[in-house]
Amino acid sequence: MKFRKNQPENEDDDPWWKPTTPQYYDPYYGGDHKNNERGGVNAVALGLGLGIPLGVIACALAVFIFFWCRKRRRQNRNPFPVPFAKKGNDYETQLDSPAYSIHDPWLLDRNNLEINYSKKLGSGAFCNVFKGKINGEAPVSTIHPGQRTQQLRDCPVAVKMLPSFADDAARSDFMQEINFMKSLAYHPHLVSMLGFVADRKSPYLLVEFCEHGDLLHMIRNRKQEIIDGPAVSLDGLKIKDLLMFSWQISNGLEYLNNIGCIHRDIAARNVLVDSSNTCKIGDFGLCRLTDSLLYTARGGRLPLKWMAPESLSSYEYSFKSDVWSYGVLLWELFSLGEVPYAEVQTTELLTTHRSGKRLLKPEYCPDEIYDVMRSCWQELPDDRPAFQQTCSILAQMLEKATENYGYLIPKHFNNQTRDPSEQCDNV
Ligand SMILES: Nc1ncnc2c1ncn2[C@@H]1O[C@H](COP(=O)(O)OP(=O)(O)O)[C@@H](O)[C@H]1O
Ligand SMILES: [Mg+2]
Repeated sequence: MKFRKNQPENEDDDPWWKPTTPQYYDPYYGGDHKNNERGGVNAVALGLGLGIPLGVIACALAVFIFFWCRKRRRQNRNPFPVPFAKKGNDYETQLDSPAYSIHDPWLLDRNNLEINYSKKLGSGAFCNVFKGKINGEAPVSTIHPGQRTQQLRDCPVAVKMLPSFADDAARSDFMQEINFMKSLAYHPHLVSMLGFVADRKSPYLLVEFCEHGDLLHMIRNRKQEIIDGPAVSLDGLKIKDLLMFSWQISNGLEYLNNIGCIHRDIAARNVLVDSSNTCKIGDFGLCRLTDSLLYTARGGRLPLKWMAPESLSSYEYSFKSDVWSYGVLLWELFSLGEVPYAEVQTTELLTTHRSGKRLLKPEYCPDEIYDVMRSCWQELPDDRPAFQQTCSILAQMLEKATENYGYLIPKHFNNQTRDPSEQCDNV
């Protein structure tokens, strides 16, 4: 061995193997010049011979540690770390992997859930929802023991699941929805998560069952009741109830904004109504938590007709783009379930908004509610109100509202000659 040539009898006397010793890096370091030159050559060779492999090993180790730590972090955050990142059979077989043995307090044993597949509650752009029943205690009761607004033992439940053909984007949104719902505290105007079940194909999200289903269907089904008003039935749904719904939704959204959440899919179909006629915001599939005031996202299936111009043009979302969507929701509500921009092609939506055209006042909509809608549809996000403001405006209206609230409006409009098929105008 080259370096062993000059090895002294006693290794402790000669530091050749200590690469940091200056003798081997400085050819003029003391003593015999010739010997020192040879020492310099040896030092370079030693540096190359040991330094390169050591450097490579150190880099490989650093990369390994980085990826290992990242994997551990993801596993801790997500109870479904591997299966849903993969397609087809890959993730089905992986479901038996130890990833599922991680204890999660939200997890309900599949045996304690009954799903009634003949009772479909609804379906949206991504998921199917069936009625079910939890046998025993719902997991949420141990996580938020103070939550006592509903029965949490042997209780009905809505079971949300992906269809078998769901793509990776839908799976990722669904996982995000489950994880986001876990982080939510109880709020009377947000749908509560009761737990989840790990199944071979996809998890099931268990949320509180809302007897009247979604707000859009409810309004459409009870449209005549609302039109007839208190004159025909005192128990029926009234314009004043719609005002109360508007406040409840605004209140739920104010809370979401306070915790830094942009919902991105505010629409009547995503608001659920429970047995006591309380509105609860649901469907957190597109919702994003953000530290900054702006969130930029691309792609996926998007609710174009509910989206603000800046979201349509530049994929920009903020609390104020939720406010725009809330205005469209109010329009759905007070038009008694009409489809917004029914006559506008989605490709023309942005031009319609930019040209200043807005949805017209629906027939049964009080002026002051339409004013709120219009304020939500200001071109510049900063000019739109915050949910705190819409809440207090609606609360004031509620205080003043009588049982006949809103019922003079149709007469007023009947005097005008307006083509009922027209929805948008420069008002
Ligand atoms: N908790 C619930 N109680 C009653 N019906 C529900 C419940 N959750 C959802 N639904 C029904 O299922 C439909 C789709 O649910 P949603 O969460 O919006 O799914 P998606 O993410 O596919 O849009 C809703 O519009 C509603 O009709
Ligand atoms: Mg939905």
